[in-house]
Amino acid sequence: MSTPLTAIYPGSFDPVTNGHLDIIGRARVLFDRVIVAVLVNAEKHPMFSCAERVEILRNVTRLWDNVEVDTFDGLLVHYAVARKARVVLRAIRAVTDYDYEFQMALMNRRMQPDIETIFMVPGEAYSYLSSSLVKEVCELGGSVNSLVPPLVESLLHEKIGRDKPS
Ligand code: PNS
Repeated sequence: MSTPLTAIYPGSFDPVTNGHLDIIGRARVLFDRVIVAVLVNAEKHPMFSCAERVEILRNVTRLWDNVEVDTFDGLLVHYAVARKARVVLRAIRAVTDYDYEFQMALMNRRMQPDIETIFMVPGEAYSYLSSSLVKEVCELGGSVNSLVPPLVESLLHEKIGRDKPS
């Protein structure tokens, strides 16, 4: 039997958006196992704690049996080796993402040539979507309905202390 192909989808996920979920949903049909890996201490002041981000991700991916949610610290390639993953998945939404992603992919390859970075493109409805924009829009009273899962929308309103815009 061949070794199961595991892909790691790393990120901050502060919070997970429908764009992230679109990628996870596409990846889970391509790989035997997808590990969504939340970087611990990605930002000094994340809106959601690492435990909250993991709990949310586990909740919104609970129906996908080959998707696992985990945390990692330190170098991504070290984590990938430890989890026996051959692939790192990253999303490219627009050409502006490319420079940074290209640099990371090449640096990761330099450190760990056996790990391949695969770029995936989310549905076009999510090409402008990011966790930071979602937080900003919500903080300023705009609607994030259909940009994030309903659970995230209510938690954002709880954190920000605003009622949902009607
Ligand atoms: O969602 P993000 O914040 O764009 O994800 C960035 C992430 C977590 C993938 C990247 O910062 C990362 O891999 N950090 C771990 C530390 C590391 O391996 N750094 C070297 C990258 S070449």
